[in-house]
Amino acid sequence: MGVIKDILRTMDYGPSPEGSEHVKAWLEEHAGGFGLFVNGAFTQPRDLFEVFNPATGEGIARATQGSPADVDAAVAAARKAQAKWAALSGFERSKHLYALARHVQKRERFLSVLETIDNGKPIRESRDIDIPLVARHFYHHAGWASLIDSEFAGTKPVGVCGQIIPWNFPLLMLAWKIAPALAAGNTVVLKPAEYTPLTALAFAAICVEAGLPQGVVNIVTGDGATGAALVAHAGVDKIAFTGSTEVGRAIRKATAGTGKKLSLELGGKSPFVVFEDADLDSAVEGAVDAIWFNQGQVCCAGSRLLVAESVAEALYAKLRARMANLRVGDPLDKSTDVGAIVAPAQLERIKRLMREGEQEGLEFFRADESLPARGCFYPPTLVTGVEPASVLAREEIFGPVLVATTFRTPDEAVALANNTRYGLAASVWTENVNRALEVAARVKAGVVWINSTNMFDAASGFGGYRESGFGREGGREGLLEYRIADAPKIKPSSAKPARLNAAPGLLPARAVAGSELDRTAKLYIGGKQARPDSGYSYAVLDPAGREVGLAGLGNRKDIRNAVEAAAKAGSWGAATAHNRAQVLYYAAENLSARAAEFARRLRAMTGASARAAEAEVEASIRRAFVYAGYADKFDGAVHATRSRFVTLAMNEPWGVMGIVCPNEAPLLAFVSLVMPAIAMGNCVIAVPSASHPLSATDFYSILDTSDVPAGVVNIVTGEANALAKTLAEHDGVDALWYVGDAKGAAEVEALSAGNLKATWVSASAVDWRKAEGREFLRRATQVKNIWTPYGE
Ligand code: NAI
Ligand code: MG
Repeated sequence: MGVIKDILRTMDYGPSPEGSEHVKAWLEEHAGGFGLFVNGAFTQPRDLFEVFNPATGEGIARATQGSPADVDAAVAAARKAQAKWAALSGFERSKHLYALARHVQKRERFLSVLETIDNGKPIRESRDIDIPLVARHFYHHAGWASLIDSEFAGTKPVGVCGQIIPWNFPLLMLAWKIAPALAAGNTVVLKPAEYTPLTALAFAAICVEAGLPQGVVNIVTGDGATGAALVAHAGVDKIAFTGSTEVGRAIRKATAGTGKKLSLELGGKSPFVVFEDADLDSAVEGAVDAIWFNQGQVCCAGSRLLVAESVAEALYAKLRARMANLRVGDPLDKSTDVGAIVAPAQLERIKRLMREGEQEGLEFFRADESLPARGCFYPPTLVTGVEPASVLAREEIFGPVLVATTFRTPDEAVALANNTRYGLAASVWTENVNRALEVAARVKAGVVWINSTNMFDAASGFGGYRESGFGREGGREGLLEYRIADAPKIKPSSAKPARLNAAPGLLPARAVAGSELDRTAKLYIGGKQARPDSGYSYAVLDPAGREVGLAGLGNRKDIRNAVEAAAKAGSWGAATAHNRAQVLYYAAENLSARAAEFARRLRAMTGASARAAEAEVEASIRRAFVYAGYADKFDGAVHATRSRFVTLAMNEPWGVMGIVCPNEAPLLAFVSLVMPAIAMGNCVIAVPSASHPLSATDFYSILDTSDVPAGVVNIVTGEANALAKTLAEHDGVDALWYVGDAKGAAEVEALSAGNLKATWVSASAVDWRKAEGREFLRRATQVKNIWTPYGE
């Protein structure tokens, strides 16, 4: 008992391991290996791979490496189940989701321990965070299931969803994927990560126990090859992926042109910004939760500490002191703060990046804590004096390493925060509410936590800007990813499709010399008419093949200039919505004043009847009015998340958008696409109808006379698919809409993988008379969730 004296002296915790017998017994029962969960039953285990406990290095189970044939069987089961599942009433589906939530809750202890043994995360985290959030997610979506018909009228389930998840929050990511998919009437095939398949298999057993109809949830274990087979499967209607940006990019390319819906939740390098007036002690606790939570293996980890120079040393001192108190060790021990890294390969990756940092001569601080003799452990680490160009400031380390950089002014802080290709999350620490909200608005990230970090809730959307992916999980936005518009809503605008040129598309380019050039409608870039870089133009023909004018033949260089001009006009997004509305009204009025002239132009180009041409102009004017009206009415939301938080969902413009218009309805399609985009604050590069570009080029003068600031709308005429390709490849373009043919649509999707810009493509005829409404505004924006605490 002499130790009590020692304990009192050090006030240290003794070991307090969580009991794991029940989990060990379950693993023992499955010592022969786990099969896959297909059509409501487990398959015979075969082709097994080993599953490890990273804290001990011991093999704890074996799971089946799913083959393409297995994926096929799982997709077939999901397909068979889908119609029936979707045909259940929302109330019936709701009861099923509710049952899943209940069963998860009943097994919280078991699931927490299993998660900790498989993943290495501290039991305190799996018990207090992961698993309760899993139950919360199913409860929340049980509610959505019963509301889906009324709240999402005009939409239907996507169908069969392929879902691929990572190993950092295995069961939580499963919940984020499965709950909304099921609530929205879809069935799923989910592939857990190969390092951590066990809680998904336990969840499969829960599905049986809870009486979920067979085939609604299918779980196929395996590695990246199994994931790739799921992505490639023709029977899958949507892919939802969480994982590395590299694999996200591969999936973007693999699904291009297939019509599969896609959402990607990828990596991050999120800033944790501490101003000089921050409560430094709170910021230190925040940093612990930001980067040492789950060993830093968190996509939204606050891994880049940006701190005001005046308080940097004080903050570092507090951090170092706090780090000395972090307990690294047995994840099952209830007093452990930092557990094991998921696998040797990930540990090696962290060490490699640290070696690279050391070669740069950076200053490392590691808590003086001896690590367990075996297992995958890495000590909490603080690296200071990190330049923005350092590999440690750029690469996602995915380990317990905080890298610190100082700043002098708020502007510099924002610039540093945004100096990354990612944009998943940000955390802002200041006691000044004005500054907090200002920074929250300027930082490019899908989630911003003010004086807090790593807050999650099912009612709030989560997802990234830029190369952190697109689409949201959670809340209403998350559900939309699992619904599509009722088909067939879109019909061609007339029984006979619009009459195009005898030879639609481009005529051979021809040189236009001297005086002739003046007859050429020019490009419109940065508020000025611009000659095409090529020096060429092309003839615009009427249906009888007569030349009605010349249009500039834009190329790659023109697109680049237009993107530059659009980027410079970025303050448009910060203009008040009222201002934007006024500009749109003004444009609509000016178009109205020149309606007859625009109708004549349409007739001349397309051969439309006078009535049809007038109707198209009239519809275009109305449409401009509609979006002028919407400019200040597409509101965000305040989500009901946790107590003492206001969670603001703000609709923000993408920034720079490319818009490639179809040949049909040359004026109406142009207005229908460009107006919602600029109403929401985007600056656009529009590529008008290639066959009938002159309505759009006439539109310059409308823009000029309507106070549309230079660079907000740029117009580049030419071969639509070639220009679309350049827009898709351009990293300065944040989102791209394309309406055209199947080949162009596929190319746009594939080439967008570079910066993972959001795309919205259509290769089928659109009824432009009806192409209007909130869906266009939603596609012109991305949601930023800002968590603002209140109370002392
Ligand atoms: P990963 O992206 O390879 O793994 C995530 C999931 O994708 C796993 O289920 C894996 O089997 C699957 N997968 C792998 N290749 C695939 C393919 N070609 N097609 C379809 N599915 C495929 O990530 P990994 O290799 O485990 O970790 C590497 C790095 O990625 C980490 O160090 C971290 O930086 C980042 N990462 C980010 C995550 C996040 O939540 N944002 C999660 C996991 C990793
Ligand atoms: Mg494991």
